[in-house]
Amino acid sequence: MNNNFLKACSGEATSPVPVWFMRQAGRYLPEYQKVRGANDFLTLCKTPELAAEVTIQPIDILGVDAAILFSDILIPLEAMGAGLAFEEGRGPVLEPPVRSRDDFKKLHSIDPESDVPFVLETIRILRRELEGRVPLIGFSGAPFTLASYLIEGGTTKSFLNIKKMMYADPELFSSIMGLITDVTIDYLKAQIAAGAQAVQVFDTWAGILPRAEYAEHALPHAKRIMDAIADSGVPRIYFVYDGGHLLDLVKQAGSDVIGLDWRTDIEVAVNQLGNDIVVQGNLDPCAMFLPEDRLRERIGSILQMGSKAKAHIFNLGHGVLPEIPPERVKLAVDIAHELSA
Ligand code: CP3
Repeated sequence: MNNNFLKACSGEATSPVPVWFMRQAGRYLPEYQKVRGANDFLTLCKTPELAAEVTIQPIDILGVDAAILFSDILIPLEAMGAGLAFEEGRGPVLEPPVRSRDDFKKLHSIDPESDVPFVLETIRILRRELEGRVPLIGFSGAPFTLASYLIEGGTTKSFLNIKKMMYADPELFSSIMGLITDVTIDYLKAQIAAGAQAVQVFDTWAGILPRAEYAEHALPHAKRIMDAIADSGVPRIYFVYDGGHLLDLVKQAGSDVIGLDWRTDIEVAVNQLGNDIVVQGNLDPCAMFLPEDRLRERIGSILQMGSKAKAHIFNLGHGVLPEIPPERVKLAVDIAHELSA
């Protein structure tokens, strides 16, 4: 068993540094396209044998040190009673959006074993199939990010509806966040019981908040999740995309590992966070288009700064893009392993 990822999560510096990439399974891989071709995205997420198959593809193809469950952060929202569809070219659509007390009343908590059995079954299959290879990461969205999809009804650039509710009706906003937090805790506990060996909480949109609003409206819920699974024995990773201005607050959530996005200067981050926390990240996904010698330099400097943290997990600063050739992604993995060996 290649344990470098779990060692690094628990604060042990490893050589080489473990590598995995957000969205390491996905459309950039022809092997994924082949499985996806015959199925829509949600069917793929809900068919354990297929979800397990595409989870394992990047382990074989890239040689990464951890697998991440193939699913989507929006899956539990559907189980809570929200409408969910993925439309080609438009991304996720959650209709009708949740904007009033009446809308909120239609949402409910979940029993993961009966409401999202396919996620747990995928994890069980993966643990059998990955045995002796690499650890399996489970995940969820963070409450602010999930609330943004629920309230906006999909992806947004302005975040007008969620921010309006947060400022104008903090009581309703807080009820929604509280319910999502309860669901997320049950969901992550169920993933861990099914065999997830680490969990990452994705806060893709919390970075749009000013510090004061993050501290008041997002952090307490993220912290409640981290606290609730603190005794589960699995490491907790918290990734706030575009969260460079929030790092000291992000640390207060209490995760074992902090994921850094690609805008954040890893040297500044490590200096600010101190050497009592593990960092993960943070190559710009588009840097994989660099000529090889420049790519080596970029990866080398990230590894050098990462080595000043308690431990470092090499990753991208956001997900692999569909446009990046698979051989470039593999090259980045190989370079990171080679330079940290
Ligand atoms: O990282 C992995 O490889 C694990 C699987 C995974 C997916 N989505 C697969 C996916 C994970 C961990 C996610 C998380 C996720 N989903 C996030 C947080 C991380 C981030 O990217 O910031 C968010 C915001 C979502 C919501 C989501 N899912 C959007 C906005 C989209 C549409 C955009 C797009 O790329 O099409 C998705 C769809 C999605 N999730 C795809 C994949 C592989 C593409 C689906 C397809 O095959 O068409």
